Amino acid sequence: MSSGFCTFDIDMFGSWFGRKNRDKEELGESDGAGFGDWSFLGADMHSHFVPGIDDGSPNIETSVELVKGMVEMGYSTIVTTPHIMVDFYPNTTEKILDGLQVLRSALEKAQIKVEIRAAAEYFIDEYFTEQLEKRDLLTVIDKQVLVEFSMYSEPPMLKEVLFKMMTMGYRPIMAHPERYNYYHGNVDTFREFKDRGCLLQLNALSVAGYYGENVRRVAEDLLQRGLYDYCGSDVHHDRHLAGMKALTTKKAFRPLMSYPFLNKKLCF
Ligand SMILES: [Fe+2]
Repeated sequence: MSSGFCTFDIDMFGSWFGRKNRDKEELGESDGAGFGDWSFLGADMHSHFVPGIDDGSPNIETSVELVKGMVEMGYSTIVTTPHIMVDFYPNTTEKILDGLQVLRSALEKAQIKVEIRAAAEYFIDEYFTEQLEKRDLLTVIDKQVLVEFSMYSEPPMLKEVLFKMMTMGYRPIMAHPERYNYYHGNVDTFREFKDRGCLLQLNALSVAGYYGENVRRVAEDLLQRGLYDYCGSDVHHDRHLAGMKALTTKKAFRPLMSYPFLNKKLCF
């Protein structure tokens, strides 16, 4: 069983706060200038576009619209990453790859040109360690595996599991490190994760304040320290897509454009 609550889409709580006000406050006002699009990254490596298997796209029509939106924003390659989280989304490699085939066919039919493949966003729990033992993991590239864990407290076995992954030849990519509130008071922790061999993935919307001011500040700090390796959209739905588009007109977009993210290496 997984420990703590999961880190899936915070928008499930959106109605509590009033979406309109939140979007305005958290994304900030546009400064009016457009700085470009997301083509400088080339590839996105964190999203939820396989229909109907997690808290991302609920159906194939929405998936096609979301991918179309990503292509229009400049992405040419997408590695989509459905949640695998035993308590909420007990997905399997087979289920994800079957869903990918459905998505590929629909994109082809809609004449949307994009290179798309699937990995997963693995929640670190007992189910994950079983999959790890079996070496049944979907990878972003080479042996790199996208992982997340509880946002409310550090899982007691976290470092042990990450270490085990590395001894087995895998390389963990920690999804959105800036969103783990319990590390906010000690950003040096992320340096330790890096020193242990972890890669770190920024959620792009973090720099726009989408997840709150504290997360934005930590993301900015990690960027300035050069600790990130990848930039992911973590798009679940059209509001995230709109946020990604809006971000290209904001000053917070500029540091992303000049940062040496590894995303381009994922382009086929
Ligand atoms: Fe995600």
